[in-house]
Amino acid sequence: MARGMHFDAGADDYDAARPPYPPALWGRLRALGLLEPGRAALDLGAGSGQATGPLLAAGLPVTAIEPGPRLAALLRRACPAATVIEARAEDAALGVGYFDLAVAATSVHWFDLDIVLPKLHAALTPDGRFAVWRNVFGDPDAPPTPFRARIAEIVAARRPPARPGPPAEDLTAMSEALTASGLFRVDDCSTYRWTVEFDADAVRRLFGTFSDWSRDEVRQAAAAVTDLGGSVAEHYSSWLLVLAPQRSSR
Ligand SMILES: C[S@@+](CC[C@H](N)C(=O)[O-])C[C@H]1O[C@@H](n2cnc3c(N)ncnc32)[C@H](O)[C@@H]1O
Repeated sequence: MARGMHFDAGADDYDAARPPYPPALWGRLRALGLLEPGRAALDLGAGSGQATGPLLAAGLPVTAIEPGPRLAALLRRACPAATVIEARAEDAALGVGYFDLAVAATSVHWFDLDIVLPKLHAALTPDGRFAVWRNVFGDPDAPPTPFRARIAEIVAARRPPARPGPPAEDLTAMSEALTASGLFRVDDCSTYRWTVEFDADAVRRLFGTFSDWSRDEVRQAAAAVTDLGGSVAEHYSSWLLVLAPQRSSR
């Protein structure tokens, strides 16, 4: 399977299982003035519309880039007002000086940043912003739970993961990767903690969307929920980095 295409293979499950991003994250974007109606938005790695939907609801016209054909079809159905381009961020034509806001919601780790960051730098307006966020499934700062102990055992038995880039919780490494070229600087950074209750079926569906989890590992995670009484509270977090393009002062 091509890199990053795991999600398309389970497109329906992805759409049904992934929880929405926390309202406080959207509140932060709004407080920063990034969700003003009419601002042109670009959603990179849009999936089935987890960020496209709220951006449209805020009144922003959205161009959504999604390489997976099944996800792109779901996205077109869920968000008919969006302009959906079925392509990788590396290959899509993004134009020059057009977008006020670009977002990458739990997707930036799939991009070749050497290609995508210069394209984005060119595609944003002078005051544009690139908002990057990511869910961390398993908040490392939350008190340990019996379910997370079982998850740690499953992960510890695994061969090195195939997923590229720094671990999801490593905000410092991601921030360095996104600013190393000098094209962008960090304008704002925040983290949101949230808790969700899952039964075994919800864990099976959600963990089945994780690109680094095998079917057997997903089955073990669902079995752990059953062993622990049929319901578990999962502590998650989401980080948000807002990047501003650096312009030379010639
Ligand atoms: C974890 S999903 C995130 C989807 C959605 N943005 C969300 O918030 O749930 C990662 C998405 O990135 C897409 N993707 C993978 N490689 C990509 C690339 N090179 N360019 C653009 N999107 C890519 C996948 O098809 C998938 O939809």
